[in-house]
Amino acid sequence: MSMDGVYRLYFGESNVPTPDYIKRAAIRAMEGGYTYYTENAGLPSLRRALAAYYRRLHGVELDPSREIVITASGVQALNVGIRCVLDPGDEALVLTPAWPNGASIVAMCNAAARLIPHPLCRGRYAVDFDALEAAVTPRTRLVVYTSPSNPLGWVATEDEQRRLLAFARRHGLWLLADEVYDRLYYAGARLGDPVPSILRLATRDDAVLVVHSFSKSYCMTGWRVGYLIARGDLASKATQLNEFIISHAPSFTQKAAETALADGEEELARMLARLRENRALCLEALGGIPGVTVPEPDGAFYVFPRIDGLADSFDFCRRLLVETRVGLAPGVAFGAGGEGSVRICYAAGRAVLEPAMERLARFIRG
Ligand SMILES: Cc1ncc(COP(=O)(O)O)c(C=O)c1O
Repeated sequence: MSMDGVYRLYFGESNVPTPDYIKRAAIRAMEGGYTYYTENAGLPSLRRALAAYYRRLHGVELDPSREIVITASGVQALNVGIRCVLDPGDEALVLTPAWPNGASIVAMCNAAARLIPHPLCRGRYAVDFDALEAAVTPRTRLVVYTSPSNPLGWVATEDEQRRLLAFARRHGLWLLADEVYDRLYYAGARLGDPVPSILRLATRDDAVLVVHSFSKSYCMTGWRVGYLIARGDLASKATQLNEFIISHAPSFTQKAAETALADGEEELARMLARLRENRALCLEALGGIPGVTVPEPDGAFYVFPRIDGLADSFDFCRRLLVETRVGLAPGVAFGAGGEGSVRICYAAGRAVLEPAMERLARFIRG
């Protein structure tokens, strides 16, 4: 972090600042009196806006007063969601490689995370349903998956979603889907279409939780606004739990999030077009390198190339940083199945991405 002149592709965020229309909405909200406490579940107007957004984008009906809880970020939604489900000694099955916070939060509940790697089959990541079945014990309570995935860019197919849901129902488990990257999707019928949510397949009586955030789609990482969608009984507990952790997300950032939902589509479309080009640049730069396998990511803003013979991705990233000033995240940081790969975040500007990819390609070729 203290090194100068580094091309930083290790962060999980865009270099683009929060769009002005969202900043202006926050200023208006502060001036308009949104500086007080809100409900623990968040502003009713934001929850209603989210219900309308899910109806419009997914054709899903949600009860904003019972099934949506606004949180102070996606990671806080993950935290309260998991805390509501797990008791000490319980077990959670976590599909990996994954952003490590899910498994860490499981550990903070004094529960155990069993990591189930996504196998790479014919150029695409898949779900190892046999390994999931084999990992279930009497203490298993929860399955966690991320789609689109950080770091893989993998997106669960409808068939995989159906099978995950059936698996959770069969074993009486909670199914937690981290969908924070759902709008960053390149394989839909139209750029801008979201990845279909698990909520389209699940009923409102299913033991399903969806974790979400304004961070990625609206370049609002520093604002800390997210939400949890869950079965009414769990959402009610998560609301109570919120009181003792943070009470609620900041009132004016919630109000600004409402504006992001209402007016964000144009800016999002521009960002997606840029991201799609950046993704193509990375795939092209890595594609021709012998010994490098790059599964084409359908979502998020990461590529996760696997490098033949790489046994210590941490050491690789350290050498790459020191010798070429390119910063990547080592695959080992993302749990089982991550070693042997590195994560590149391509949400950077071209002036950073192009030279960084050139240096990386030269470094790998040796
Ligand atoms: C998969 C995944 N889930 C959740 C989050 C949390 O985002 P935030 O806490 O900024 O809302 C991140 C952030 O990197 C992420 O990659």
